[in-house]
Parts: sequence; C-alpha cells; structure tokens
Amino acid sequence: MIDIHAHILPSLDDGPETIEESVELCKVAANDGIKRIVATPHSKDGVYEAKSDKILETVNVLNLKLKENQIDIEVLPGSEIHIHEGLVESIESGEVLTINNSGKFILFELPFVFIPPGTDKFIFNLKINGIVPIIAHAERISAFQKNTELVRQLVKIGALVQVNAPGLTGQAGPRERKCAEWLLKNRLVHFIASDVHSLSGRPPILSKAVECAARIVGEEEARALVCHNPEQIINGLDIR
Ligand SMILES: [Fe+2]
Repeated sequence: MIDIHAHILPSLDDGPETIEESVELCKVAANDGIKRIVATPHSKDGVYEAKSDKILETVNVLNLKLKENQIDIEVLPGSEIHIHEGLVESIESGEVLTINNSGKFILFELPFVFIPPGTDKFIFNLKINGIVPIIAHAERISAFQKNTELVRQLVKIGALVQVNAPGLTGQAGPRERKCAEWLLKNRLVHFIASDVHSLSGRPPILSKAVECAARIVGEEEARALVCHNPEQIINGLDIR
C-alpha cells in the first residue's frame, strides 16, 4: 500500500518532533503493509511554512535512518497546501512541493467550516495549468458533511478526493463516517490515506479502513484506493 497523506517528517509541522518518533511511525506503517509514504507537511497554512528544500533534505535523512534500522518503507516528498493566491506560480517555481515532486498532483486543504467562494474557479484554473488538486480529508469538512453534492461538483471540474482512514473506520466520529461512506458509495473517493500525525492521534494504519471500504465497494475497488491510484499519482500519471 501507499499512503499519500502523512505528517511523518520531524520538526516541520504538528507531526513528530524527533527523527526517532518518525522512525517509530514508519515502523508501524511498514507493519501494516505500507511500502511507500508521501510526507506531506503543512505548507503555506499561515502557521507552518515547510520549505521545499528542507522537506527534500529531511526526506533523504529519514530514508537513510530507515535503511539503518532495516525498516522496509520508502518516504517520498510532498506537502499539504492551503488554498492561496499565486498557487500555480508557487508550484511552478518549486516554492511548494507537489506529490513526489512530479509537478502534477497537489494535496490541497480546504477550510473545515466553509468552502471559500471561487474554489471551483480555482480548481479549474489549476487544471488548465496541468495541475490536479486532491482534496485532503474531504469527510472532515463540515460544508461537505452537510452537503455532499458539493464534492460531486468539484470532482466534475477535475478534483480528486482523499478520505482519512479513521474517517471510514468510525474512529473520527459518526459525521465523518457517514460522509466518508456516502462519498465512497457514490464513487467520489480516489484515495484512502492516514493523515498520520502521531501514534496516539491518527496512526499510519490503512488496512482497517480498506476492510471497511471493501464492504461498500468490494475488495478490488477498495484496494485501488491504497494501491493503484496512489501508485499512478506518485508517477505523475492520471488514475482514470
Ligand atoms: Fe494533513
């Protein structure tokens, strides 16, 4: 499996503080059957400003440490980006990192309470510039919980959708679960990811959520959300 949303790098955001904690998280991920994990520190969210060169450097350091500790998992670079003016320019200049630095897919975080006016135009503008936004943890956004059809509209324009594993298992709460299940039933989910921050918060475990998803869409489709689809995007390829 491949996890495309993970706060796994030390001291860059509200994820682990030390590299030892990062290694521990990777060990748990590897035990769950995760082979690759995209590090997506918060970037440009007004609080955290993880810089691309620092992310790339920290990914290399962590991968070396994982080899030393014989943990069979590879960490890839990425970031979680807030909607902001000049995003296309920031991507083109390398100021913010796309998934696996492929220049094509970004993990995109919307505000939790409301969808900013013009989000549809913003997504459309990214698409015409060859950039595909992946909406992070859609099931956590209350505007989507109240009106799931909004997600369909954004997918129609070209956005992809990620849900968190604890959203599907019910660990995040009933509203999140209901929303995640509806999105899945309506074939509006493209990725399940952990959004790991710590072992006690959201651990890097996907297998339980895949079992939950399989009960709704069947084994094959559920596996695609953590295998085929992530594999495509880390290679910069479309999933459909
Ligand atoms: Fe996140």
